[in-house]
Amino acid sequence: MTHHRLKNTTYGVIETICGCMYSGKTEELIRQIKRCEFAKQKYQVFKPQIDKRYSETEVSSHNQDRIPSIVINEPNEVYQHLKHNTRVVGIDEAQFFEKGIVDVITKLANHGRRVLVAGLDTDWQGLPFGSMPEILAVSDIIHKQYAVCMVCGDAATRTQRLVNSQEDILVGSFNIYEARCREHFDPQLSLRRKFEDQQELNL
Ligand code: ADP
Ligand code: TMP
Ligand code: MG
Repeated sequence: MTHHRLKNTTYGVIETICGCMYSGKTEELIRQIKRCEFAKQKYQVFKPQIDKRYSETEVSSHNQDRIPSIVINEPNEVYQHLKHNTRVVGIDEAQFFEKGIVDVITKLANHGRRVLVAGLDTDWQGLPFGSMPEILAVSDIIHKQYAVCMVCGDAATRTQRLVNSQEDILVGSFNIYEARCREHFDPQLSLRRKFEDQQELNL
């Protein structure tokens, strides 16, 4: 991933890391944030209240990598916490934020910050997720990550929901979702799956 030096620059940059679940978005976000320590750049990381899977306060990968984060409900809350000397702003699970997130990250970048955004690009139906299409549209740099298809081992770009739910937001990880390639992604599977099947499969 490109490394940006922001010293002496007025404008920042929006870098977005996208892909399906398990594609390593959070790991990459954490890796980039840890590099900031070597560059002696102050950073702050935010995540939406909704994601409490592994930790209430930390950004945490499926592999248990973690860094402290500030939990917010609304995108505008970033400003309440933002320190004047913060050069890098990380945001995980960006798909869960409402559209106001686009304005917030744009302003941060216009005021010289490097904004590192990580988010799920498509939902359980394979459709663009939440604010991600707009975030991708205003990004300067986009990194698309791939997971491994749990059916065939090819590169996975989709997130297969394994349980019966039609909710757009259903927080979870293993047992609820797995990574799949385009060929093996089946959005109807979640609709077909009955409660009894779920019990049988111990899901
Ligand atoms: P994301 O934030 O994109 O969901 P994470 O960075 O939290 O992903 O986790 C990535 C890790 O998930 C990988 O390093 C790997 O250990 C684990 N993992 C579990 N299932 C898969 C899969 N199908 N393909 C790739 N990695 C997987
Ligand atoms: P991840 O990309 O870091 O693995 O996290 C994605 C989160 O999004 C996880 O909590 C599951 C959730 N999710 C939904 O709420 N709806 C969906 O349609 C999908 C695919 C995931
Ligand atoms: Mg993640």
